[in-house]
This record gives sequence, structure tokens and C-alpha cells, in this order.
Amino acid sequence: MQKKPSLTFPAKFLWGAATSAHQVEGGTHNQWSVWELENAKSLAAQAEYQWQDLDNWPEIKDQAKNPDNYVSGRATDHYNRYEQDFDLLKKMNMNAFRFSIEWSRVEPEEGAWNVEAVEHYKKYAAELKRRGIEPVVTLFHFTLPVWFTALGGFEKRGNVQYFVRFAEKIVRELGASVRYIVTVNEPEVYAHESYLAGHWPPNVTSKPRMVGVLNNLARAHNQAADVIHAINRRYKVSIAKNSAYFYAGDDAVLSRKTTDIMQYFQDDYFLKKVVKHCDFLGVNYYFSNRVYGYRVHNPDEKLSDLGWDLAPANIQHALERLHEKYDLPIIITENGLADADDSRRQWWITQTLIAMQKAMDNGVRIDGYLHWSLLDNFEWDKGIWPRFGLAEVNYDTMERTLRPSALWFAKIIKHLTKD
Ligand code: BGC
Repeated sequence: MQKKPSLTFPAKFLWGAATSAHQVEGGTHNQWSVWELENAKSLAAQAEYQWQDLDNWPEIKDQAKNPDNYVSGRATDHYNRYEQDFDLLKKMNMNAFRFSIEWSRVEPEEGAWNVEAVEHYKKYAAELKRRGIEPVVTLFHFTLPVWFTALGGFEKRGNVQYFVRFAEKIVRELGASVRYIVTVNEPEVYAHESYLAGHWPPNVTSKPRMVGVLNNLARAHNQAADVIHAINRRYKVSIAKNSAYFYAGDDAVLSRKTTDIMQYFQDDYFLKKVVKHCDFLGVNYYFSNRVYGYRVHNPDEKLSDLGWDLAPANIQHALERLHEKYDLPIIITENGLADADDSRRQWWITQTLIAMQKAMDNGVRIDGYLHWSLLDNFEWDKGIWPRFGLAEVNYDTMERTLRPSALWFAKIIKHLTKD
């Protein structure tokens, strides 16, 4: 058996977990919650066709065929139970937490701030700090106020100002309690799913419109970053970049060329537009893609509950490439898998830590690792059956239970952070 490298992470490393508001809070009213109510029945009706090939279909089918699965509703009730959830972070010896601010709560009508919601998030950040947990705040994680989408959302360049105003408001309100700010989560995933594939609201399938949205998201990041930096240079701003790693499955010129092109559009097309306005690089890693000719064809030796090919070790190459190209400190802002029976999570995290260590040994500066997710949560158009949580959520009682992999991870973190 090959010896595993010994792990030596920097003393100030951020060890934590991530969530987003709509996926856990419950009771949100935004463009997604409206869409869910309109689409739950048809998503449930298509479930068998979509998911029946999964090995775990017998286990998920009742939930996947139930329209209620596709309505976020109470979600995990995190809006009310956040203190209890922060205690879970402490139990896992974590010192960082990524969450998003729900814009539709803070500004339910254009230009009208909801004082109660603002106070909620101020208390929320303060409670994290009180526990010695560093907040990593996301401003746009796929959900938008209905008034904003009615104005054309990020399709209209003129609407970017509204996002920038929201960003400024939040940073002024949270003040010194936060340092790390993620403006936009996975810009390409949002633009692709909502404006090209048409899976997510507003279900558009148009390349020019997708490109328009991407460009406006880059403007939104750059302008928000400038405004935030003008408030105080102490803030560290980035996007959360979805970064899959592409590699050629054979030596054919076509496979290698396609790999390069896919990797370019995956990472560089957008990053080039925003990198000058980033203090660090947030990286979300879930996938690798093996390319033959024009196509992706993965080994599929180990799969997640969603049927995603599991290649955690390849995060090393994703990190090394981003470091070489952009030379920014990296925080892994998401990384994880849907694994309801928790049979693969410990293995996934082990492989990831080893890969991060190798990347660091090769000169990559990594400042943090935030696992997706703290809790089981509402997985967008797939609903609640995919289980990404370090903590399992019982949706009937809202009880949280740390999974065995989480208890194991807690011990690893403790070991890695001891003086
Ligand atoms: C998103 C999360 C999502 C996760 C798992 C990322 O694309 O930022 O909201 O739950 O992946 O699919």
C-alpha cells in the first residue's frame, strides 16, 4: 500500500462548511420559490424518466416522485435554528462558515430595506464571531428578488446597479464582523442552467442571452468589488468559481484540443474578466471530465447518489492550474457529494485533503476548505432527496445528526489544528 503524505496545513487555515440561504433557511420568497410552485408537479412527473437508472432509485423514488420534494418551503428551518447549526460547526472544530444573504428578504421591494431582515443577518454574523467562526458571506447564490427578475434580472446591464447597491448596503451593515465576501456564486452554472439549458428559472434557451448574463455578472462582481474596497481595503472579495478539471482520455490531438477549449470556457472566459477585482479565488470543486474526441466520457468507477463521477484527487490539478494562471490565494468555497448513506464521504474528504496537500507542496497557496454542505439541503430543481450534509436533517422533526464522516472529520481538523 502506498504511504499517504503527512498533512501539514497552515496554522490560520479556515476549516469550515458552506450553505446558501434559499437551500436551508426556509420561508423565502424569490424567483425560485415562485418557480418551484409552478413546476413541482411536472418535475415529479419526470422523475422516473430522469433518475430511474441510478442504483439508488429504489431508495429515492418515493421522494423524487412526490411534488412536495420540489418545493423548498420550510427547507431546514435554518433561519430560526441557525444558532443550533453554528454549534454543529463548533462540534466539528470548524473555524469558518460560508452562507448567503437572501437579497429578497433584505430588499423585498425595490429600494425598501427590511430592517428586521438586516438585523437578523447582523445578529447571525455576530453569533458566528462570538463562537470564533469566520463568516464567508455570499451575496448572490442563484436566488433573486422577484422585483429584480421582473425588471429583467441580470439580462439587463442597467440592472447591475441594483445588485451593487445591495452589496454596499450589506457590507456597510455587517461592517467589521466580516472580512471574506463572495459576490457571485458559480456564474457559469447560473447562466448555463437558467439561460442556455433552460432547466432553472427563467427557463431561457439562448446562447446570446446566456452570454449577456455572464457579461453582466462580471460587471456586477467588478463594480461590487470596487464599492466594497472603497468602504475599506480590509475586505477580501472573490467570486465562487465552479471549476471542474478536464483531462484527455487518450493522446489524440482532437481529445487534447477539446480538453483545452473546454477548460478555457470552464475557467478562463469568465475569470479573465474579474480576476483583477479579486483578492482571493473561491473555488467550488465537484467534478472531473475525461475527454475523448469531442465528448466527455468519465470512468464512473465510483458515483455519488446523483450519478456524478467521483474524482476527488483531481482537485489537485484544478488548484495547480488556477494557481499558475491567476496566482491568487485560494479558498475552496465548496466541495462535497450527495451521499445519503455516508458510505463515500470520509473517503472523498481524505482524498481531497491529500490532493490539497500535494498542491500546497507544489506551491499553491490555499487558505481554507469549506465543505458542501453543513446540512442536507434543498438541491434546486432536484429537491431534497440528494443528501449533501455533514449533518443529516430529518425533515419531519428538523432534527440534525452529524453523520459518522462528520465526526471523523472533526477529529482530523482537531489533529491538524493542534499547536
Ligand atoms: C452550488 C450549490 C449546490 C451544489 C451541489 C453548487 O453548484 O453552488 O448550491 O447545492 O453545487 O450541487
